[in-house]
Amino acid sequence: MTAPERAAGSPLVEVENLTVRFIGRDLDICVVNGVSFTLDRGSSMCILGESGSGKSVTLRALMRLFPPTARLQGAIRVDGVDVLALEENRLRQIRGGLISMIFQEPMTALDPVFTIGQQIAETLVYHEGISFRAADARALQLLELVQVPSARRRLEAYPHELSGGLRQRAMIALALACKPKLLLADEPTTALDATVQIQILLLLRELQRELGMATIFVTHDLGVACEVADKIAVMYAGKFVETGSVEQVIDHPRHPYTQGLMNSTIHADMRGVALDPIPGAPPDLTDLPAGCPFAPRCAAAREPCLAVQPELAVLEGGQQARCLQYAPGPAFSEAALLKAS
Ligand SMILES: Nc1ncnc2c1ncn2[C@@H]1O[C@H](COP(=O)(O)OP(=O)(O)O)[C@@H](O)[C@H]1O
Ligand SMILES: [Mg+2]
Repeated sequence: MTAPERAAGSPLVEVENLTVRFIGRDLDICVVNGVSFTLDRGSSMCILGESGSGKSVTLRALMRLFPPTARLQGAIRVDGVDVLALEENRLRQIRGGLISMIFQEPMTALDPVFTIGQQIAETLVYHEGISFRAADARALQLLELVQVPSARRRLEAYPHELSGGLRQRAMIALALACKPKLLLADEPTTALDATVQIQILLLLRELQRELGMATIFVTHDLGVACEVADKIAVMYAGKFVETGSVEQVIDHPRHPYTQGLMNSTIHADMRGVALDPIPGAPPDLTDLPAGCPFAPRCAAAREPCLAVQPELAVLEGGQQARCLQYAPGPAFSEAALLKAS
Protein backbone atom coordinates (compact mmCIF):
# COMPACT_ATOMS: atom_id res chain seq x y z
CA MET A 1 0.00 0.00 0.00
CA THR A 2 1.40 3.44 -0.91
CA ALA A 3 1.49 6.28 1.59
CA PRO A 4 -1.43 8.19 -0.02
CA GLU A 5 -3.53 4.99 -0.07
CA ARG A 6 -2.79 4.42 3.58
CA ALA A 7 -3.70 8.05 4.34
CA ALA A 8 -7.02 7.72 2.49
CA GLY A 9 -7.92 4.60 4.46
CA SER A 10 -6.98 5.97 7.88
CA PRO A 11 -9.33 8.11 9.98
CA LEU A 12 -9.17 11.84 9.31
CA VAL A 13 -9.10 12.65 13.03
CA GLU A 14 -7.33 10.63 15.72
CA VAL A 15 -7.46 11.91 19.29
CA GLU A 16 -5.71 9.90 21.99
CA ASN A 17 -6.03 10.48 25.68
CA LEU A 18 -6.48 14.24 25.38
CA THR A 19 -6.34 16.24 28.59
CA VAL A 20 -6.76 20.00 28.86
CA ARG A 21 -5.91 21.86 32.07
CA PHE A 22 -6.13 25.56 32.78
CA ILE A 23 -3.41 26.75 35.08
CA GLY A 24 -3.29 30.24 36.57
CA ARG A 25 -2.27 31.97 39.76
CA ASP A 26 -5.27 30.70 41.73
CA LEU A 27 -6.41 28.13 39.24
CA ASP A 28 -5.61 24.54 38.34
CA ILE A 29 -8.52 22.81 36.74
CA CYS A 30 -8.61 19.78 34.46
CA VAL A 31 -11.62 20.28 32.17
CA VAL A 32 -10.99 17.55 29.58
CA ASN A 33 -9.70 14.34 31.07
CA GLY A 34 -8.59 11.50 28.82
CA VAL A 35 -10.74 11.90 25.70
CA SER A 36 -10.03 9.53 22.79
CA PHE A 37 -11.87 9.15 19.50
CA THR A 38 -11.44 8.77 15.76
CA LEU A 39 -13.48 10.27 12.95
CA ASP A 40 -13.53 8.99 9.38
CA ARG A 41 -13.19 11.22 6.36
CA GLY A 42 -16.54 12.73 5.34
CA SER A 43 -18.42 11.55 8.42
CA SER A 44 -20.09 13.45 11.21
CA MET A 45 -19.88 13.23 14.97
CA CYS A 46 -21.76 15.05 17.67
CA ILE A 47 -20.53 15.79 21.18
CA LEU A 48 -23.56 16.02 23.43
CA GLY A 49 -23.78 17.05 27.07
CA GLU A 50 -24.85 19.60 29.63
CA SER A 51 -23.25 23.01 29.90
CA GLY A 52 -19.75 22.94 31.42
CA SER A 53 -18.99 19.31 30.52
CA GLY A 54 -15.99 20.24 28.35
CA LYS A 55 -17.51 20.07 24.86
CA SER A 56 -16.26 23.43 23.58
CA VAL A 57 -12.82 22.91 25.09
CA THR A 58 -12.53 19.51 23.35
CA LEU A 59 -13.49 21.13 20.05
CA ARG A 60 -11.10 24.05 20.46
CA ALA A 61 -8.28 21.65 21.28
CA LEU A 62 -8.42 20.38 17.69
CA MET A 63 -7.31 23.84 16.55
CA ARG A 64 -5.44 24.77 19.72
CA LEU A 65 -7.63 27.84 20.17
CA PHE A 66 -6.68 28.60 23.77
CA PRO A 67 -5.26 31.29 26.02
CA PRO A 68 -1.69 30.69 27.29
CA THR A 69 -3.10 29.30 30.56
CA ALA A 70 -4.10 26.08 28.76
CA ARG A 71 -1.95 22.93 28.99
CA LEU A 72 -2.69 20.18 26.50
CA GLN A 73 -1.51 16.59 26.72
CA GLY A 74 -2.15 13.51 24.64
CA ALA A 75 -2.15 13.29 20.86
CA ILE A 76 -4.25 14.97 18.15
CA ARG A 77 -3.70 14.04 14.52
CA VAL A 78 -5.80 15.55 11.74
CA ASP A 79 -5.08 14.26 8.25
CA GLY A 80 -1.75 12.99 9.56
CA VAL A 81 -0.80 16.40 11.03
CA ASP A 82 0.38 16.31 14.65
CA VAL A 83 -1.62 19.32 15.87
CA LEU A 84 -0.01 19.55 19.32
CA ALA A 85 3.51 19.69 17.82
CA LEU A 86 2.77 22.44 15.26
CA GLU A 87 4.64 25.74 15.28
CA GLU A 88 2.43 28.88 15.51
CA ASN A 89 2.84 29.86 11.84
CA ARG A 90 1.92 26.35 10.61
CA LEU A 91 -1.01 26.38 13.01
CA ARG A 92 -2.30 29.59 11.41
CA GLN A 93 -2.25 27.88 8.00
CA ILE A 94 -4.13 24.89 9.36
CA ARG A 95 -6.82 27.11 10.94
CA GLY A 96 -9.23 28.02 8.19
CA GLY A 97 -7.36 25.72 5.79
CA LEU A 98 -7.44 22.05 6.79
CA ILE A 99 -9.73 22.74 9.78
CA SER A 100 -12.42 25.42 10.06
CA MET A 101 -14.77 26.37 12.83
CA ILE A 102 -18.20 27.95 13.07
CA PHE A 103 -19.53 29.41 16.30
CA GLN A 104 -22.84 30.05 18.01
CA GLU A 105 -22.36 33.78 17.54
CA PRO A 106 -21.25 34.67 13.97
CA MET A 107 -19.73 37.95 15.16
CA THR A 108 -16.99 35.86 16.84
CA ALA A 109 -15.73 35.02 13.36
CA LEU A 110 -16.89 37.98 11.28
CA ASP A 111 -15.15 41.35 11.44
CA PRO A 112 -17.67 44.23 11.77
CA VAL A 113 -15.59 46.71 9.74
CA PHE A 114 -15.24 44.68 6.53
CA THR A 115 -17.90 43.55 4.08
CA ILE A 116 -18.75 39.86 3.82
CA GLY A 117 -17.15 39.76 0.35
CA GLN A 118 -13.92 41.37 1.56
CA GLN A 119 -13.60 38.89 4.44
CA ILE A 120 -14.12 35.81 2.30
CA ALA A 121 -11.76 37.12 -0.41
CA GLU A 122 -9.10 38.00 2.18
CA THR A 123 -9.19 34.46 3.56
CA LEU A 124 -8.83 32.97 0.09
CA VAL A 125 -5.91 35.24 -0.81
CA TYR A 126 -4.13 34.41 2.47
CA HIS A 127 -4.63 30.66 2.36
CA GLU A 128 -4.63 29.89 -1.34
CA GLY A 129 -2.48 32.69 -2.71
CA ILE A 130 -4.97 33.48 -5.50
CA SER A 131 -5.58 36.99 -6.93
CA PHE A 132 -8.22 39.29 -5.41
CA ARG A 133 -10.14 39.13 -8.69
CA ALA A 134 -10.31 35.31 -8.57
CA ALA A 135 -11.10 35.48 -4.84
CA ASP A 136 -14.06 37.85 -5.46
CA ALA A 137 -15.54 35.42 -7.97
CA ARG A 138 -15.09 32.52 -5.57
CA ALA A 139 -16.67 34.53 -2.72
CA LEU A 140 -19.80 34.91 -4.83
CA GLN A 141 -19.88 31.15 -5.53
CA LEU A 142 -19.53 30.46 -1.82
CA LEU A 143 -22.46 32.70 -0.85
CA GLU A 144 -24.52 30.96 -3.50
CA LEU A 145 -23.40 27.57 -2.16
CA VAL A 146 -24.74 28.45 1.31
CA GLN A 147 -27.96 29.66 -0.33
CA VAL A 148 -27.77 33.34 0.50
CA PRO A 149 -30.44 35.04 -1.64
CA SER A 150 -29.26 37.98 -3.79
CA ALA A 151 -25.71 36.80 -3.11
CA ARG A 152 -24.01 39.45 -5.27
CA ARG A 153 -25.64 42.27 -3.29
CA ARG A 154 -24.86 40.55 0.04
CA LEU A 155 -21.15 40.48 -0.77
CA GLU A 156 -21.19 44.26 -0.32
CA ALA A 157 -22.98 44.08 3.04
CA TYR A 158 -21.41 44.51 6.46
CA PRO A 159 -22.21 41.81 9.02
CA HIS A 160 -24.56 44.08 11.02
CA GLU A 161 -26.68 44.63 7.90
CA LEU A 162 -27.63 40.94 7.73
CA SER A 163 -30.23 38.97 9.72
CA GLY A 164 -29.03 36.35 12.24
CA GLY A 165 -29.70 33.50 9.81
CA LEU A 166 -27.88 35.21 6.93
CA ARG A 167 -24.93 36.09 9.17
CA GLN A 168 -24.70 32.41 10.10
CA ARG A 169 -24.71 31.45 6.42
CA ALA A 170 -22.00 34.05 5.75
CA MET A 171 -19.88 32.57 8.55
CA ILE A 172 -20.37 29.10 7.07
CA ALA A 173 -19.30 30.44 3.65
CA LEU A 174 -16.18 31.91 5.27
CA ALA A 175 -15.46 28.62 7.05
CA LEU A 176 -15.85 26.66 3.81
CA ALA A 177 -13.77 29.09 1.73
CA CYS A 178 -10.63 26.94 1.72
CA LYS A 179 -12.39 23.57 1.44
CA PRO A 180 -11.59 22.31 4.93
CA LYS A 181 -11.44 18.56 5.42
CA LEU A 182 -12.77 19.07 8.94
CA LEU A 183 -15.49 21.52 9.98
CA LEU A 184 -16.00 22.16 13.68
CA ALA A 185 -19.36 23.59 14.74
CA ASP A 186 -19.90 24.82 18.28
CA GLU A 187 -23.65 25.11 18.97
CA PRO A 188 -24.04 26.83 15.59
CA THR A 189 -27.82 27.14 15.74
CA THR A 190 -28.54 27.75 19.43
CA ALA A 191 -29.00 31.51 19.00
CA LEU A 192 -31.39 31.19 16.06
CA ASP A 193 -35.16 30.74 16.04
CA ALA A 194 -36.54 27.27 15.36
CA THR A 195 -37.26 27.58 11.60
CA VAL A 196 -33.89 29.13 10.83
CA GLN A 197 -32.19 26.49 13.01
CA ILE A 198 -33.53 23.64 10.94
CA GLN A 199 -32.65 25.39 7.67
CA ILE A 200 -29.05 25.86 8.82
CA LEU A 201 -28.78 22.26 10.09
CA LEU A 202 -30.10 20.86 6.83
CA LEU A 203 -27.72 23.10 4.91
CA LEU A 204 -24.75 21.91 6.97
CA ARG A 205 -25.72 18.26 6.51
CA GLU A 206 -26.10 18.78 2.77
CA LEU A 207 -22.77 20.62 2.47
CA GLN A 208 -21.02 17.97 4.51
CA ARG A 209 -22.18 15.27 2.07
CA GLU A 210 -21.66 17.35 -1.05
CA LEU A 211 -18.14 18.45 -0.11
CA GLY A 212 -17.11 15.15 1.52
CA MET A 213 -16.17 17.06 4.65
CA ALA A 214 -15.99 15.60 8.15
CA THR A 215 -17.82 17.59 10.83
CA ILE A 216 -17.82 17.65 14.60
CA PHE A 217 -20.85 19.29 16.18
CA VAL A 218 -21.10 20.35 19.77
CA THR A 219 -24.58 20.68 21.21
CA HIS A 220 -26.69 20.35 24.32
CA ASP A 221 -29.70 19.71 22.11
CA LEU A 222 -30.64 16.11 21.46
CA GLY A 223 -32.70 16.97 18.38
CA VAL A 224 -29.71 18.66 16.76
CA ALA A 225 -27.56 15.60 17.47
CA CYS A 226 -30.09 13.28 15.78
CA GLU A 227 -30.34 15.61 12.80
CA VAL A 228 -26.68 15.99 11.94
CA ALA A 229 -24.58 13.13 13.29
CA ASP A 230 -23.45 9.67 12.22
CA LYS A 231 -22.07 9.01 15.67
CA ILE A 232 -22.56 10.54 19.10
CA ALA A 233 -20.23 11.01 22.06
CA VAL A 234 -21.93 11.93 25.34
CA MET A 235 -19.68 14.00 27.58
CA TYR A 236 -19.83 14.38 31.35
CA ALA A 237 -17.34 16.13 33.63
CA GLY A 238 -14.55 16.17 31.03
CA LYS A 239 -14.87 12.56 29.86
CA PHE A 240 -16.76 10.70 27.18
CA VAL A 241 -19.23 8.52 29.09
CA GLU A 242 -20.94 6.93 26.09
CA THR A 243 -20.13 6.64 22.40
CA GLY A 244 -21.80 4.89 19.50
CA SER A 245 -23.75 5.38 16.31
CA VAL A 246 -26.79 7.67 16.48
CA GLU A 247 -29.07 4.62 16.39
CA GLN A 248 -27.17 2.89 19.21
CA VAL A 249 -27.05 5.89 21.51
CA ILE A 250 -30.55 7.25 20.85
CA ASP A 251 -32.41 3.93 20.61
CA HIS A 252 -30.42 1.99 23.23
CA PRO A 253 -28.62 4.37 25.58
CA ARG A 254 -26.49 2.29 27.96
CA HIS A 255 -25.07 4.83 30.40
CA PRO A 256 -27.48 6.01 33.13
CA TYR A 257 -26.59 9.62 32.28
CA THR A 258 -27.53 9.16 28.62
CA GLN A 259 -30.67 7.33 29.70
CA GLY A 260 -31.50 10.30 31.92
CA LEU A 261 -31.02 12.69 29.01
CA MET A 262 -33.30 10.60 26.80
CA ASN A 263 -36.03 10.19 29.42
CA SER A 264 -36.08 13.87 30.14
CA THR A 265 -36.36 14.99 26.53
CA ILE A 266 -37.91 12.36 24.27
CA HIS A 267 -41.11 13.48 22.59
CA ALA A 268 -42.41 13.87 19.07
CA ASP A 269 -40.46 16.98 18.19
CA MET A 270 -37.27 17.19 20.20
CA ARG A 271 -35.67 20.00 18.30
CA GLY A 272 -34.90 23.08 20.38
CA VAL A 273 -35.36 21.25 23.64
CA ALA A 274 -32.55 21.77 26.13
CA LEU A 275 -31.31 18.90 28.24
CA ASP A 276 -31.68 19.53 31.93
CA PRO A 277 -34.15 17.75 34.18
CA ILE A 278 -31.78 15.10 35.60
CA PRO A 279 -31.83 15.71 39.38
CA GLY A 280 -28.81 17.46 40.89
CA ALA A 281 -26.12 19.41 39.09
CA PRO A 282 -22.89 18.51 37.27
CA PRO A 283 -19.93 18.19 39.64
CA ASP A 284 -17.48 20.93 40.51
CA LEU A 285 -14.44 20.11 38.35
CA THR A 286 -12.09 21.40 41.04
CA ASP A 287 -13.56 18.95 43.55
CA LEU A 288 -14.50 15.76 41.72
CA PRO A 289 -15.78 12.77 43.70
CA ALA A 290 -13.40 9.82 44.17
CA GLY A 291 -15.51 7.40 42.14
CA CYS A 292 -17.83 7.88 39.17
CA PRO A 293 -18.53 11.62 38.77
CA PHE A 294 -22.15 10.84 37.89
CA ALA A 295 -22.75 8.58 40.92
CA PRO A 296 -24.23 11.32 43.17
CA ARG A 297 -26.98 11.90 40.58
CA CYS A 298 -27.41 8.29 39.43
CA ALA A 299 -30.49 6.28 40.42
CA ALA A 300 -28.62 3.04 39.65
CA ALA A 301 -25.51 3.85 41.71
CA ARG A 302 -24.15 1.19 44.08
CA GLU A 303 -21.46 1.17 46.74
CA PRO A 304 -18.47 0.64 44.40
CA CYS A 305 -19.56 3.56 42.19
CA LEU A 306 -18.52 5.96 44.95
CA ALA A 307 -15.00 4.56 45.10
CA VAL A 308 -14.06 3.32 41.62
CA GLN A 309 -13.70 5.43 38.48
CA PRO A 310 -15.18 3.37 35.68
CA GLU A 311 -13.35 2.75 32.40
CA LEU A 312 -15.10 2.83 29.03
CA ALA A 313 -16.47 -0.67 28.47
CA VAL A 314 -16.91 -1.90 24.89
CA LEU A 315 -20.40 -3.31 24.35
CA GLU A 316 -22.25 -4.97 21.52
CA GLY A 317 -21.66 -3.42 18.11
CA GLY A 318 -18.80 -1.30 19.39
CA GLN A 319 -20.96 0.99 21.54
CA GLN A 320 -19.06 2.13 24.63
CA ALA A 321 -20.23 3.13 28.11
CA ARG A 322 -18.25 4.30 31.12
CA CYS A 323 -20.23 2.61 33.87
CA LEU A 324 -19.28 -0.04 36.42
CA GLN A 325 -22.32 -2.15 35.57
CA TYR A 326 -20.48 -3.13 32.36
CA ALA A 327 -17.11 -3.72 34.00
CA PRO A 328 -15.90 -7.31 34.11
CA GLY A 329 -16.01 -9.01 37.53
CA PRO A 330 -18.47 -9.11 40.40
CA ALA A 331 -17.89 -5.64 41.92
CA PHE A 332 -21.09 -4.04 40.73
CA SER A 333 -23.50 -6.95 40.63
CA GLU A 334 -22.90 -8.10 44.20
CA ALA A 335 -23.13 -4.71 45.85
CA ALA A 336 -26.41 -3.45 47.21
CA LEU A 337 -28.17 -0.68 45.36
CA LEU A 338 -27.23 2.47 47.24
CA LYS A 339 -30.45 4.27 46.47
CA ALA A 340 -32.55 1.26 47.48
CA SER A 341 -30.97 0.89 50.90
N1 LIG B 1 -10.05 29.65 29.32
C1 LIG B 1 -10.51 28.99 30.38
N2 LIG B 1 -9.95 29.11 31.60
C2 LIG B 1 -10.43 28.43 32.66
N3 LIG B 1 -11.47 27.59 32.62
C3 LIG B 1 -12.08 27.43 31.42
C4 LIG B 1 -11.65 28.11 30.25
N4 LIG B 1 -12.44 27.74 29.21
C5 LIG B 1 -13.34 26.87 29.73
N5 LIG B 1 -13.14 26.68 31.04
C6 LIG B 1 -13.90 25.80 31.94
O1 LIG B 1 -13.90 24.51 31.37
C7 LIG B 1 -15.12 23.84 31.65
C8 LIG B 1 -15.70 23.28 30.38
O2 LIG B 1 -16.05 24.38 29.55
P1 LIG B 1 -16.70 24.19 28.11
O3 LIG B 1 -15.90 23.24 27.29
O4 LIG B 1 -16.87 25.57 27.56
O5 LIG B 1 -18.11 23.54 28.45
P2 LIG B 1 -19.32 23.21 27.45
O6 LIG B 1 -19.52 21.73 27.56
O7 LIG B 1 -20.49 23.96 28.02
O8 LIG B 1 -18.94 23.66 26.10
C9 LIG B 1 -16.02 24.87 32.35
O9 LIG B 1 -15.97 24.60 33.74
C10 LIG B 1 -15.36 26.17 32.02
O10 LIG B 1 -15.58 27.11 33.05
MG1 LIG C 1 -19.74 25.22 24.95
